[in-house]
Amino acid sequence: MDTNIIWHNQTITKQDYRKKNGHFSGVIWLTGLSGAGKSTIANILNKKLYALNVNSYLLDGDNVRHGLNKGLGFSEEDRQENIRRVGEVAKLFVDSGTIAIVAFISPFRADRDRVRENLEDGEFLEVYVDCPLEECEGRDPKGLYKKARSGEIKSFTGIDSPYEAPLSPELTLHSGQKEAEACADELIDLLIQKQWVT
Ligand code: PPS
Repeated sequence: MDTNIIWHNQTITKQDYRKKNGHFSGVIWLTGLSGAGKSTIANILNKKLYALNVNSYLLDGDNVRHGLNKGLGFSEEDRQENIRRVGEVAKLFVDSGTIAIVAFISPFRADRDRVRENLEDGEFLEVYVDCPLEECEGRDPKGLYKKARSGEIKSFTGIDSPYEAPLSPELTLHSGQKEAEACADELIDLLIQKQWVT
């Protein structure tokens, strides 16, 4: 079946879109525990990029699981498929000249590495939203840690399902000590330094 599917090159290329948009396109991948602040930081970053006239789009785990990834659970296999799909979608955004901001727990190193490998060099920035489990659990914005501790939710990341922190992320944000706004500013600085935006 696969051998009968032929790739079509498109006339308008990623480089054309980037030239038109006046900025680079790539993936900013935020990984971290539930409640670490990924979505909040990602939202602020997206707003800041919008204000700079940059084409960006936010892919958030909770939201994507309502549509494209509806039906996937939290087993290792389902999380792997969750990340594979969103990695492919993020790549399409990159091809369209857009900066994709991805905010998923993405607990497994190998899954995140596969997304990086599927992109060209320099197109993937891994950002570790580093917040201690005790802090995330203390915040418990959705009451999920409480449910996980009582056994109402099984395979909850950090409780009875593993989280593998990045080994050499492009950036670590200490979201337990720093306001989300300041974290988003750090990200903007990184994007300027990498010449993704001016
Ligand atoms: S993953 O691990 O990357 O596939 O997860 P993700 O798609 O980012 O979805 C995480 C959000 O789902 C809610 N939720 C859970 N998280 C972790 N473990 C379990 N078992 C679970 N069940 C539901 C939770 O609200 C996560 O959102 P965030 O924004 O990370 O708190």
